[in-house]
Amino acid sequence: MRAAIINTFGPPNVIEIADISRPQAAPGHVVVHVKAAGVAPWDSLIRSNTSVTAPQLPLILGSDLSGVVDSVGSGVTEFKPGDEVYGVTNEQFIGAYAEFALAKAAMIARKPTKLSFLEAASAPVVAVTAWQMLFEYARLKAGQTALIHGAAGNVGAYAVQLAKNAGIKVFATASAKDADYLRTLGADTIIDYRQAKFEDGLPLVDAVIDMVGGAVRERSMRVLPPHGILVTVVSPKPEDLIRRYGDKVVFFLADVTTTRLNTLTTLFDSGKLLTQVGTVLPLEHARLAHEMLAGAPHQRGKIVLQL
Ligand SMILES: NC(=O)c1ccc[n+]([C@@H]2O[C@H](COP(=O)([O-])OP(=O)(O)OC[C@H]3O[C@@H](n4cnc5c(N)ncnc54)[C@H](OP(=O)(O)O)[C@@H]3O)[C@@H](O)[C@H]2O)c1
Repeated sequence: MRAAIINTFGPPNVIEIADISRPQAAPGHVVVHVKAAGVAPWDSLIRSNTSVTAPQLPLILGSDLSGVVDSVGSGVTEFKPGDEVYGVTNEQFIGAYAEFALAKAAMIARKPTKLSFLEAASAPVVAVTAWQMLFEYARLKAGQTALIHGAAGNVGAYAVQLAKNAGIKVFATASAKDADYLRTLGADTIIDYRQAKFEDGLPLVDAVIDMVGGAVRERSMRVLPPHGILVTVVSPKPEDLIRRYGDKVVFFLADVTTTRLNTLTTLFDSGKLLTQVGTVLPLEHARLAHEMLAGAPHQRGKIVLQL
């Protein structure tokens, strides 16, 4: 089968398209005939050997996928060959940029019927991340407020939609070019991060949901009341802030599970949650996809490889 692999860590040009043998169904796993694979910032961390998951070489890049179950390993009762699924390969976040991928049965779910394979592959990690940030870590409820940094990005767009669906007031930071888009998603107040300091004039918020990292996190502590919380998913983990502020600062790695995906599937199928697929490329252009992650021009939304 064809797969986008790396034999050495480094820049996008270490990615090669190779002909390798298909994975075999292992216990607790399914082999997915991949229709589409999402391309994400953490794939570049893995490619450049800066990911905390630290997988061994050689490896197939990619974690988000959608496709059709080809075969199932022992102990798998929830899926059978022919099922249309979406989700993530494994906790190491590798193996999806390929014609066939081995995925843990506990990390995939039935594909939402309303979504195409391209749309479904764009969603798993980013949508689950946003869900966990808002409701499992910040524990936000209707009537509360959130400041969402990087709101027009892939995680951010889900965070805005999920927050609005739950009756949470959203302050969003983004570039001016994304203001109209964020209004359509439901953001109440949009702050152009290139023109204004978000902390000037912002009321205290119950939670800061951070997809930007760096100095933005430190500055965000000023808009949190004593009960407030900053939830961040941007690497590296902010050890210094955690030392200084304790439980007020939380960093975590997304935990994509069948249960969480099924919750999101209900929202996708009821039309309450929309995907945003950006540039679509064939597998052979995986290297270009990674150049886009590093700043080469591409459409807003998730970059997806179509197989
Ligand atoms: N720990 C985990 O499990 C986990 C899971 C998912 C994602 N992540 C991390 O979360 C981050 C976001 O991921 P993503 O997929 O959403 O990325 P993305 O789609 O590239 O979105 C990033 C967004 O942030 C905006 N931005 C950049 N600087 C900003 C600033 N100073 N203030 C406000 N907005 C700013 C960008 O806008 P412009 O392009 O206009 O600058 C862009 O819209 C990445 O670091 C990713 O690795 C971690």
